[in-house]
Amino acid sequence: MSNILVVYATTDGHTRKICQRLQQVIEQQGNQAQLVQIDEPHPDLAQYDKIVVGASIRYGKHSKLIYEFIEQNQQLLESKPNAFFSVNVVARKPDKNQPDTNPYLKKFLRQIIWQPQQLAVFGGNLDYPGCRYLDRQMIRLIMWMTKGPTAPDTQIDYTDWDQVETFAKLISNMPDC
Ligand SMILES: Cc1cc2nc3c(=O)[nH]c(=O)nc-3n(C[C@H](O)[C@H](O)[C@H](O)COP(=O)(O)O)c2cc1C
Repeated sequence: MSNILVVYATTDGHTRKICQRLQQVIEQQGNQAQLVQIDEPHPDLAQYDKIVVGASIRYGKHSKLIYEFIEQNQQLLESKPNAFFSVNVVARKPDKNQPDTNPYLKKFLRQIIWQPQQLAVFGGNLDYPGCRYLDRQMIRLIMWMTKGPTAPDTQIDYTDWDQVETFAKLISNMPDC
């Protein structure tokens, strides 16, 4: 049995939802998983067998706190089986939904020194009614430019939940050190 820590950054809760599904599947596989949001104090990382980090994209960027966490814990992360995933709506496009085709993940990996052993990209949640006015207008503009839906009542979950389950099983099956 592995004891797995999942550290995540979320703004509107969708990445947390993905982490909760990861936790469910990891635990169904006979392991333990603990979820910690990046802006909460995190427990001693040394006590975990594997570490997973996940973050969503907002205006082209992953959370600054995620970069800081990675930088501060680089050595520890590298000493254990580890994984990273990104959540964004660009990943709704079939030609941009893989670690080596998603522009945000590719850029992120160029910016950090850590080289995660496993990677995933998940489509995010598009919820115009749930956005503040300015955010809604900005995202509609971005979606218009990238040929996505722009109707103000659009609510689409682009996450492929089977892909999330597959990633959870992959994490579960990574051999402990
Ligand atoms: C204000 C705002 C800005 C966003 N900017 C981007 C972006 O630049 N590129 C992108 O692919 N997705 C963008 N998204 C989509 C989010 O990545 C997606 O909604 C994701 O599910 C958010 O996850 P979270 O709730 O865990 O933060 C944006 C969403 C919001 C609300």
